[in-house]
Parts: sequence; structure tokens; C-alpha cells
Amino acid sequence: MEWIQSLCLCFLMLSTTASLSSDLSGLGRELLESAREPEFMNWLKGVRRRLHQYPELTFEEVKTNEFIRTQLDLMGITYTWPVAKTGVMGSIGSGSGLVFALRADMDALPILESIEWEYKSKNQEKMHACGHDAYVTMLLGAAKLLQSKKDELKGTVKLLFQPAEEGHAGAYYVLQEGVLDDVQGIFALHVLPYLHTGTIASRPGPFLAGSGRFLVTIQEKGGHAAAPHLTADPILAAPFSILALQQLVSRESDPPEAGVVTVGFIEGGQAENVIPKIVKFGGTFRSITSEGMSFLRQRIKEVTETQVTVHRCAAKVDFMDEKFRPYPATINDETLYEHAKRVGVALLGESNVKLDKPGMAAEDFVFYSQKMPAALFNIGSKNMTLKSDEPLHTQWFILDKDVLPIGAALHAAVAISYLNDHPFHLH
Ligand SMILES: *[C@@H]1O[C@H](CO)[C@@H](O)[C@H](O)[C@H]1NC(C)=O
Ligand SMILES: [Zn+2]
Ligand SMILES: [Zn+2]
Repeated sequence: MEWIQSLCLCFLMLSTTASLSSDLSGLGRELLESAREPEFMNWLKGVRRRLHQYPELTFEEVKTNEFIRTQLDLMGITYTWPVAKTGVMGSIGSGSGLVFALRADMDALPILESIEWEYKSKNQEKMHACGHDAYVTMLLGAAKLLQSKKDELKGTVKLLFQPAEEGHAGAYYVLQEGVLDDVQGIFALHVLPYLHTGTIASRPGPFLAGSGRFLVTIQEKGGHAAAPHLTADPILAAPFSILALQQLVSRESDPPEAGVVTVGFIEGGQAENVIPKIVKFGGTFRSITSEGMSFLRQRIKEVTETQVTVHRCAAKVDFMDEKFRPYPATINDETLYEHAKRVGVALLGESNVKLDKPGMAAEDFVFYSQKMPAALFNIGSKNMTLKSDEPLHTQWFILDKDVLPIGAALHAAVAISYLNDHPFHLH
């Protein structure tokens, strides 16, 4: 009897699992097919081209949010606006049950696009070189897919178009407004040009580095180039400090704990025969752990301030916390990661969902991951026919448009199936 009972239970469990996963692959296939239909695909391409031509920088995404609101209006989706100055948040669903959020960042970079093509950036020295035009497009695509299924949704999906990801912690300001207080999970995508189109990759736990900035000012009285003994020389002090900073990771950090210190600019002096008053340099420091972040921060200050005294100079180190809120390391929630991975497998097949390495890029998505279960996935956009393997944040970056329907379907499928899987946790 007992034996029979456990056999029955076992059978029951097996069939439930099987039907859930076949539901999932059915749903995934259906969404991906819809997003790849020529009409839908043309619409996605049009949306992305429009966004790509008019990139706007951090907290200036005015035309971008206007465009997003127009699209949501056309779909009949209600939204909150403004969110964190220039953001928009749409909402689809029953208004009861769980709330799941999908996030797209909207801002562009101060880069002059070098690729000549029909839909090249028309805003001088601004470019969507980090794929944020693609995330907005994918999320609008997901909005369309979700809206067509709104009566079947087992809860609510919030569509967050977030401003100011590039160094300005837009996510932090979104959270401060309380618009995500009722959200149980959040998901986002980022394109990766060294991963083939049709593949996605992520990992549970620590995924992206924390990131901070520093600005060093060495200020002295300056003097005649022929009389170095009458002044101190910041032009000489600066490179010695920079060399010393490059020993923090190699000599003072625990090798398996990845860290980076990069000095990205140095400026000072104007004439061959003048010892200048000021030299400035600045850069970024990163670590995969929060201990690593505080360690590097402390040592960058100590080493710079001490090193310049060798050359009779004084330095001020500014971490610019007000302007560039430091980003802690991004941690993917294990359960939500597993969920999104299962959805990815249903859409793209087992072999196209990869386990990624932790990366040293940073994302303000971390601020969500500190408040709620959050998962960020990389989505491949490399296609060698198009040569779309140039790095992000360069003037050469190209997006493979075939990533758009995949991203739209993946967003929608992750949200729908999350709500389907959690039907009993009503609150
Ligand atoms: C790469 O892009 C070309 C042109 O759009 C397309 O024909 C081809 O199928 C793509 N290859 C892959 C592997 O996606
Ligand atoms: Zn970026
Ligand atoms: Zn980005």
C-alpha cells in the first residue's frame, strides 16, 4: 500500500514537472515566433532605428521618454511618468497577485559614432554604444507581447524604462521613489558582442564588479622650467603615483579576488618651458567583492597622497560620491537566475544558455539586487557576417538586429512564467 502510494505520488510529480516544462517551451516558442513575424520584426527594427538616431545622455532622455510614452499610448498601456526625472514605468496586468518587473536602461554615451550607415546617430557626439536603444526596443516589444496576453496574466508586470545607467546610478533614484516597493523580482538583459546571437549567458551569485571613480589633483605653485629647484613638479609626481597605483592589484590584493585600477585620463601643463601649477588624473577602481572595493578605495587615497610627497607635492583625492554614486558588485539571485535560465533553455535550447564568468563591468542594476531578487543576463549579438563583434562603449559598436525579437520574447516569457509559477503567494 505504502509502496503503491509513493509510486502514485512519484508519477504525479513527474507528470506535473513534465507539463510545466512543456508549457514553458510552448509559451517560449509561441512568443519567439510572434516576435520574429515579419511585421513585428519590422516594427522592432523601426523602433530601434529611431532610438539609435536620437541618443540622449544620462538624465537628459527627454525625447526618448516621449517616444516610449507614445508607444505605450498606442498599445493602450498605462504608465507612471516621470520616474527618477526622465524615466517611465508601464504596468500591465490584473493589479492583483505578484508583481514582476522588467528593466531597460535608456541613456547613451558621449561618443561620436564612426560607422557610416543609414540610421547613424544624428545627435553630435552622442551614441547608443552600450545597446540601451536595444533594451528599450526589446522592452517595448515585450510590452506588445504581454499586452496581447494581458487577460491571461496571473499578476502584474511592471515595465521599467530607467534613465541614467551610465555612471549615474539611475536605478538608485528609481528605488528612492518607491515605484518598485511592491515588486517581487526584477529581470534585465545586456548585449554582449562576443557572444553569438541566439545565445545568452549569466551566472548565479556575484556576476558583475563593483565600481568607483577617483579624481586626483596635484596642485603646486608652478615655476620657470629652468628653475625646478624653486618649485615642486606635479608633472613628475603624477606618473610616479600612477605607477604606484598599478601595484595595488598586483601586490596587495588576494589574487583570486578580481580587481582593476585604471587611470583613464591625465591632464596638466600647456607650455614646454613652464612647470605647471596643476596636474589632474583620474580613473576607475573595481572589485568583485565589497571588501575589495573598500580596500582599493582606502589604498588609492593613501598611496597617492604619500607618493606625491616624495616629489615635495601634495595631492587631493576625490571619489566624487555625490556625482557618481559608487556601484557595489551585482549579485544574481540564485532562484531567479534558475528561473530565467529555464526560460532561456525553453526559448533557445540547452546549448545556447551558457554559464558566464564574473565580469569587471559594473551595472546600476546592483541597486535592485540589493532590494529584491534580481537577475541580469547577457544576450549575444555577435554575427560575423555583420562583423558585430566590436566592443561596447566604442564608436564601432554594431548591433545585430536579430537580437531584438529574442530579447523581446525572453523578457515576456520570463515575466509570464514567473507569475504562472507563483500563483499562490497572493498578498
Ligand atoms: C548573420 O546575419 C546574416 C545577415 O543578416 C544572416 O543572414 C545570418 O543568418 C546571420 N547568422 C547567424 C548565425 O545568425
Ligand atoms: Zn555602458
Ligand atoms: Zn549598458
